Amino acid sequence: MAQKEYRIVVIGAGYVGLVTASCLAQKGHHVVLVEIDSAKSERIKKGEVPFFEPGLSVVLRNSITQKRMQITTSLENALAEKPEVVFSCVGTPSFPDGAVDLSYVWKVVSQVGSALVDDILFVHKSTVPVGVTRKSLEMLRTFVQQRGLNCSVEVASNPEFLSEGNAVSDFMRPSRVVCGVSGESAPVILRDIYSDFIEDKNLFLEMDLESAELTKYASNTMLATRISFINEIARLADRVGADMAQVARGVGSDVRIGKGFLRAGVGYGGSCLPKDVQALSWMGRLNGEAMNLIQMVGKINVEQRERFVEKIAEHFGSELVGKRAGVWGLSFKPNTDDMREAPAISIITELLKKNVDVCAYDPHVCDKSVFPDNLALSFAKTPREVLEASDFLIILTEWEEFSLFTPIDFALLSDRTVFDGRNCFDPCEMIASGITYFCIGRNLFIKSRAGGKKAGVPRVEISDDTGRCNV
Ligand code: UDX
Repeated sequence: MAQKEYRIVVIGAGYVGLVTASCLAQKGHHVVLVEIDSAKSERIKKGEVPFFEPGLSVVLRNSITQKRMQITTSLENALAEKPEVVFSCVGTPSFPDGAVDLSYVWKVVSQVGSALVDDILFVHKSTVPVGVTRKSLEMLRTFVQQRGLNCSVEVASNPEFLSEGNAVSDFMRPSRVVCGVSGESAPVILRDIYSDFIEDKNLFLEMDLESAELTKYASNTMLATRISFINEIARLADRVGADMAQVARGVGSDVRIGKGFLRAGVGYGGSCLPKDVQALSWMGRLNGEAMNLIQMVGKINVEQRERFVEKIAEHFGSELVGKRAGVWGLSFKPNTDDMREAPAISIITELLKKNVDVCAYDPHVCDKSVFPDNLALSFAKTPREVLEASDFLIILTEWEEFSLFTPIDFALLSDRTVFDGRNCFDPCEMIASGITYFCIGRNLFIKSRAGGKKAGVPRVEISDDTGRCNV
């Protein structure tokens, strides 16, 4: 248990801030959540979570009913209550060149500097480029000096590792807590607060500010790199007749590699991985490093969506125009309603440009504004409705409910054809049911199974008597 109940302010009620505030309050701290959007703030006061995040509403409502958490639109009022710790959880979106938009971050630092009235530990929980936390300290101390206050200011970088759809569990049982610190009290306070969430003190990773900031970008980019790596391997697998499911199992069984983030598909989306990969490239360039590998990670990811549409266009040829594509799954992954950087956005937009009608279903996505305004795009209420209305099916998010369907259900599709962007189904069962089935990194393998012969045997030529092979 933490030694004391801290007075905490959390700034920003987004995916990170609302989870952080609710979970800290749940552990007995006195939390004031500052959300400038008054409508959003009022909804949260009623215990409503403004987005889909399993389990969050329970934690939020407990915190409110136990009077551990208040919500306000005024950061000044929140700071007037002399909080000991302020967590900044504001957004750090990307500019087109990958640069990080820090306008919200600097606005918060200035507001805190102008309104703080006592000793404070200011913590960046947002993902911020290297150097921002140290710069924030300078700014806050300048405010304190200019206002003639006699109070101490410390800062920390405490990046979150929350995965959407699993955020409450990730906060309550973190794989590790990274804390970049530069003063005496910050590590003491943060170790105490996080002692409620980690039993093993070795999981509290204290480091300097810059290392903590870079750790966050490096972690997310490592995850993205694994995905782009396995997707590139899947491209070769489709040419040589290998099966990516078996390859991923073979690779992931090496304990040094591990099984996670080796699922081939249409690539990664979300508000973090795409942004952080670009930001790391941008940070590198800004500091004289080309970051070649990391630039390729993002390029491969964009290509993954383009190649998926090309596969559809190649299969139907000129007959594609006027067909209706059914789409299962719009969110960037299951168990979230988040559409940010979802593969569905670019894939559906490209199909509409090719004069394909689209009928889409997603169990939780309500925000259709991310799609171009287009009469050819309609939304179904059930997955079956999509099958009944469409010529062929595209699967872009592996929602659990799709696994309840069996290959025979796809006979409802006029063309009995499925393009499975998340490898949700067993290719052999699909082929055996007479469904024309495409997936990622298993296509030639299933053709060889279907045709009985080992198709796609890799091209190997013995170039000369040295036995060298040109594959
Ligand atoms: C990620 C990190 O996992 C988390 O630690 C960090 O704090 C925030 O960013 P999130 O964005 O919620 O979390 O999604 P994640 O579960 O990482 O998936 C990202 C994308 O990768 C999704 O589009 C998913 O479909 C895709 N993915 C994931 C793959 O394509 N293959 C995989 O094997 C795993």
